[in-house]
Formats: sequence, C-alpha cells, structure tokens
Amino acid sequence: MPLSPPTLRRLEKAALTAAKSAHAPYSQFRVGAAVLAGSGKIYTGCNVENASFGLSNCAERTAIFSAVAAGEQKIRCVVVYTPSLHATPPCGACRQVINEFGPQARVIAVCRSGERIDTTLDALLPGAFGPGNLSD
Ligand code: THU
Repeated sequence: MPLSPPTLRRLEKAALTAAKSAHAPYSQFRVGAAVLAGSGKIYTGCNVENASFGLSNCAERTAIFSAVAAGEQKIRCVVVYTPSLHATPPCGACRQVINEFGPQARVIAVCRSGERIDTTLDALLPGAFGPGNLSD
C-alpha cells in the first residue's frame, strides 16, 4: 500500500531529528533513520560508533533493531538522513538487515541539499539471501 504524504513527511522529520543523537566522534558523519513498522508506528535510530571502529552500528540498523525489540516483525519503509550534499543509500550490511524484515520495503534517502533517492529494497539488493533460503 502506498504511503501517504503526511506519513512520509513524519518519517523524514523523524530521521532528521534522530541524526542529532548520533555518536559519530570518528567519522563526524551524523546519520539518522526512521522506519515505518507493520503496526504503523515509527521507530528511529542513529549511528553509534565505537573506539573499536568495526563495532560501529549504522542508523538504519539501530532503528530496525529498536522496532524489533518493541515487538515488530515487519518493516514497510526505511528513511535515512545523511548530512551530505548527495543522498546516500544504505550500506550493504543494512540492506541485508532490511531484507530480513522488509523484503518489499520502500527505501528513501534524504540529505541536507534536498536531493533524494526513492527506491525499494529489492532494487538495492536483488536476489537477496533471506529467511526462505534456510527452509528450502
Ligand atoms: N552510516 C550510517 O549510519 N548509515 C548509512 O547509510 C551510511 C553510513 C554511518 C556508519 C558510520 O558511523 C558513518 O556513517 C560513516 O560511515
């Protein structure tokens, strides 16, 4: 079902606000994400970096893990805000995590210039490995 313009505006605003909580002392790249879950609720996340760099978590995964921790099992839309001139799609790890809960999800990237990407998880990760592959 297509998302209404007010819902999209709420998601974009929530992603922008979430970026303010980013813990990004190493990259200075403060990212925020908002996901629309199956219940209709919005969950947010920011990137959380670590002095042991490889342990850093992207904003998208933080938001999805918050949704799942609250009992959600379906992700309908992911919006990511990056403080860049060009809109930035989710990294490969985040695409795989989105696939777990939202193989049909819409994925939108917004940034400070107003440029945007509006696409789908399927377009970003075609032929994804997912839960179904374990029960063939
Ligand atoms: N990052 C995200 O949180 N989401 C993205 O879509 C791209 C990258 C974070 C990871 C790291 O903390 C910083 O941005 C630089 O890569």
